[in-house]
Amino acid sequence: MDEILINGGNRLAGEVRISGAKNSALPILASTILGGGDCVITNVPRVVDVLTMGKLLGILGVNVLHEGNRAVIQAEVIASTEAPYDLVKTMRASVLVLGPLVARWGEAKVSLPGGCAIGSRPVNLHLAGLEKLGADISIEHGYITAKAKRLRGARIYCDTPTVTGTENLMMAASLAEGVTMLENAAKEPEIVDLAEFLVKRGARIHGAGTDAITIEGVRELHGGDHEVIPDRIEAGTYLAAGAMTHGDVTTTHCRPTHLEAVLMKLREAGAHVQEGKDWVCLTMPDKLRGTDMRTLPFPGFPTDMQAQMVALMSLAEGTSVITETVFESRFMHVEELRRMGADIRVEGNRLMVTGGKKLTGAPVMASDLRASASLIVAGLAAEGVTQVQRVYHLDRGYERIEEKLGALGADIRRRPTTMKVH
Ligand code: UD1
Repeated sequence: MDEILINGGNRLAGEVRISGAKNSALPILASTILGGGDCVITNVPRVVDVLTMGKLLGILGVNVLHEGNRAVIQAEVIASTEAPYDLVKTMRASVLVLGPLVARWGEAKVSLPGGCAIGSRPVNLHLAGLEKLGADISIEHGYITAKAKRLRGARIYCDTPTVTGTENLMMAASLAEGVTMLENAAKEPEIVDLAEFLVKRGARIHGAGTDAITIEGVRELHGGDHEVIPDRIEAGTYLAAGAMTHGDVTTTHCRPTHLEAVLMKLREAGAHVQEGKDWVCLTMPDKLRGTDMRTLPFPGFPTDMQAQMVALMSLAEGTSVITETVFESRFMHVEELRRMGADIRVEGNRLMVTGGKKLTGAPVMASDLRASASLIVAGLAAEGVTQVQRVYHLDRGYERIEEKLGALGADIRRRPTTMKVH
């Protein structure tokens, strides 16, 4: 198990190239199950979750060839329709194979994802939607089984906009007989990216990126090429690190239009932010100022940037109120940030951050992907050495993070630990 050591206090400066979006690559890879023919996907981030999805596709009998940031995939036939517990427990997004498997192969058996560090994350909306499309769903022995000769188009209203739920249903409906209307659908850019890939392969989808998506089912999908969109959360994380170290950081190969809520909050916090078509440049001429924020589905402020912004607000002048509305208990980073000197009070789903405090390096433990990112950015701004343990969470979603931060001037290194971490 590795740990990351950061000797904080260096001002970050320079350019950082943003990788492809993990949350886009995962459904795009899962969607290859929907048809035969070659799928060539580029800008695929080499992060552990993506490798896990590749492993899962391999278990299902799909041919996957990863070469650097390119993946070539053929799903002419499959060997199994079962996503086993051992893989699903390491990555909830494995549930994304459910819709494609039942739509193309008439059945799917996917381990029910268990609990997770950011609260209860049910898949009831995925299942209710598939039932509406005519699938027979049962849950037994910890597995979801879905069966259908051919799915039928239907009108589906999602009680809550769900990102992977919308993706699962959009993929399944692509091969259903007739028209599906998804209402109160999630509007994240990753959903648009998936829809664009499916359309290239012959799917008929309209309205992706709005809350009403119409899918006219087709008999089959063929292969297709696609470049994954840039990772907006990775970009936001480097910009937050730039602001916290009073740096001068430019993220390249990114899409500022996907980052508007984050850029607005960084500006409110005092950052000077310039943007072009595919880059953002941030400098921090003055002191960081506290600002309130509330996480919301896109285009609102992303819950995946909440933890990093809590770290930033710990340094900012004044009190900031941060409200988490997407997940019920996504505050695992708070205790660890407190150990570094942050002054944070938890009140239900709100955090009161009294800023202006100095952060000091400490041994800290990562609990989930974005919590790990918040500890890294806190460590970069802290005085002394921060030792972030359990960095496997970080490796699920950030490509070569210590290399990228090192190139920006951070004093950061990875070290394998022999110590057993409980
Ligand atoms: C995705 C992202 C994750 C991000 C999250 C919210 C991927 C692989 N992961 O996760 O990084 O933090 O969106 O932007 O894309 N819900 C239900 N029933 C369901 C499904 C969801 O009640 O069947 C609830 C959840 O508990 C949560 C809310 O809906 O409160 C939104 O979750 P959802 O959008 O589904 O998150 P994920 O797709 O799992």
